[in-house]
Amino acid sequence: MCGIVGYVGINPKSNQVLLDGLKSLEYRGYDSAGMASIVNGEVRVIKTRGKVANLEKKIQDLQVPSSVLGIAHTRWATHGIPNQSNAHPHHHGKVTLVHNGIIENYGELKEVLLKQGYVFESETDTEIAAAYIDYVYAKGLDKLATLQEANRAFRGSFAFGIIFSDEQDTLYAMRRNSPLIVAVGENENYIASDVPAILKYTKQYILLDQDEIAVLRKDEIQVYTLDLDAVDYEVKTATMDASAIAKDGYEHFMLKEIHEEPRVVRETMFSYVQDDIDQLVASLPDLSKYQQIHIVSCGSAMYAGMIAKSLIESAARVRVDVEIASEYRYKDPIYDVNTLVLVVSQSGETADSLAALLLAKQQGVDTMAIVNVVGSSIAREAKYVAYTHAGVEIAVATTKAYCTQVALLSLVALNLTYVHGKVSKAQANEIIKEIQQLPDMLQHMIDDVQYVKAAKIISRHNNVFFIGRGLDYALCMEGSLKLKEISYIHSEAYAAGELKHGTISLIEKGTPVVAICTEERLYEKTISNIKEVKARGANVILVVREDLQVAQDYYDYKISIPKVNRLIQGIVGVVPLQLLSYQVANLRGCEIDQPRNLAKSVTVE
Ligand code: F6R
Repeated sequence: MCGIVGYVGINPKSNQVLLDGLKSLEYRGYDSAGMASIVNGEVRVIKTRGKVANLEKKIQDLQVPSSVLGIAHTRWATHGIPNQSNAHPHHHGKVTLVHNGIIENYGELKEVLLKQGYVFESETDTEIAAAYIDYVYAKGLDKLATLQEANRAFRGSFAFGIIFSDEQDTLYAMRRNSPLIVAVGENENYIASDVPAILKYTKQYILLDQDEIAVLRKDEIQVYTLDLDAVDYEVKTATMDASAIAKDGYEHFMLKEIHEEPRVVRETMFSYVQDDIDQLVASLPDLSKYQQIHIVSCGSAMYAGMIAKSLIESAARVRVDVEIASEYRYKDPIYDVNTLVLVVSQSGETADSLAALLLAKQQGVDTMAIVNVVGSSIAREAKYVAYTHAGVEIAVATTKAYCTQVALLSLVALNLTYVHGKVSKAQANEIIKEIQQLPDMLQHMIDDVQYVKAAKIISRHNNVFFIGRGLDYALCMEGSLKLKEISYIHSEAYAAGELKHGTISLIEKGTPVVAICTEERLYEKTISNIKEVKARGANVILVVREDLQVAQDYYDYKISIPKVNRLIQGIVGVVPLQLLSYQVANLRGCEIDQPRNLAKSVTVE
């Protein structure tokens, strides 16, 4: 949520580095963008509404020269509407900065600053932060002491890139609860919200820790704790390269990422198990003692958790509660001695999920994270971590990362089922044999072109329903979210048996209903619910396991999916839903990779 990037170097190439960085960070927000650099000894700030392309054009039109020092920002609005004056960088006195996060006590700080005669142009907390740092600096402290004092005064979350106008060869950075890396080049150094933003220039990076302050010059990097002790930092090497963030000929990142699912599911699942259940038991933490699991996460990650609940409860007979992180953190959760809090997150930075994890830790409860981004805050805070291997996900709406979450949670379910003695070793190994076939099955489904006709049915309507039971209900939640976020069609997911308790009044002639039917023991019940909507004129798109027979009268369009063991059925179930949403959004001409109002990595509450 908001992306920041900074450059200090020997060659004046700030414009290129900053714009490249912002383009790869645009998934974090794209309401407005801005850049500050040193031009003729002065700090020059350029800002625009809208996307990074607008900023690039403005820089070209104004012929802003490149510099040896610069910072830039792409914004997802929190305080203040997305207009030019609320865009970052913000500037006061000698301080210019870009910010990701929220300064919660900005109101109090503003009072102090107003009394000092500061006048504000924007509605943002970030402008207050810039002025506050300037105010502290004006007291005569050196820069490190200034940042230390400001850090202690700020409540909330922040990743800052800061330029002082009286030190034109130095870039400062500091962070708390918002991600920030420092990247190491040759005669140049960088800061960024994430590693892909600077991959075109270097693979070497340092993960800044909580409340650390970094000082970057072209040929040196110093990192300090908040007590201003020098940190002996570790320089890491990124394993991905710049091609991971290219479209590779696909029309959209989302389509590319769906096409990557066979590979990333293979990489995720095979890194835990290849042919024997004992490998799986050895590669995951020992979860056998937990009698109650709270899966806490947001959005799609939470819907992956709903699939896990359905699998773990019925197969392993362990109680699972799935919780929305933003509710969980304030609800006074009830733990017993054998509770595990399992946080699922692609980014590993989602503010509410992180807060829920920290809450559980504070209560002395064991925590585990299923995370995609290595070294992210959630991964660092959890007692146990298991990584998905989805790689970088650029499209704001998740597809491949969700798919790997479901895949890894399915392995957790299989593991628990086995360690609780609910399947024999031979049965577990049979399921693992099926897992070996999964990537080819996914490939087959992705290569199938049957979704376009179904997409046409949906694309003409503004209301769609998804219905299913059990595991299929969890799939409906994700299918419905995917559709609404990228196509802007209103859609609701319903437990199939629940629709008639009110919402069925919305079904009229032609209303599209996507009915998911993979649960063998429930499928006749779901068919009855399909008949109910069909009788009221619905246009039914049936997503059905290939072996389950449904009379042609009950659907208008059928998408068949392979039959696999129920413990891994969710992984194949999601693919057609993602492709369907993609096709619908494409038919409606939507901005698929960057839907309006959204941002990936939601680092605000
Ligand atoms: C929807 C989507 C979001 C995320 C949610 C959690 O397509 O991407 O619902 O799943 O914001 O994000 P992470 O997994 O990064 O914690």
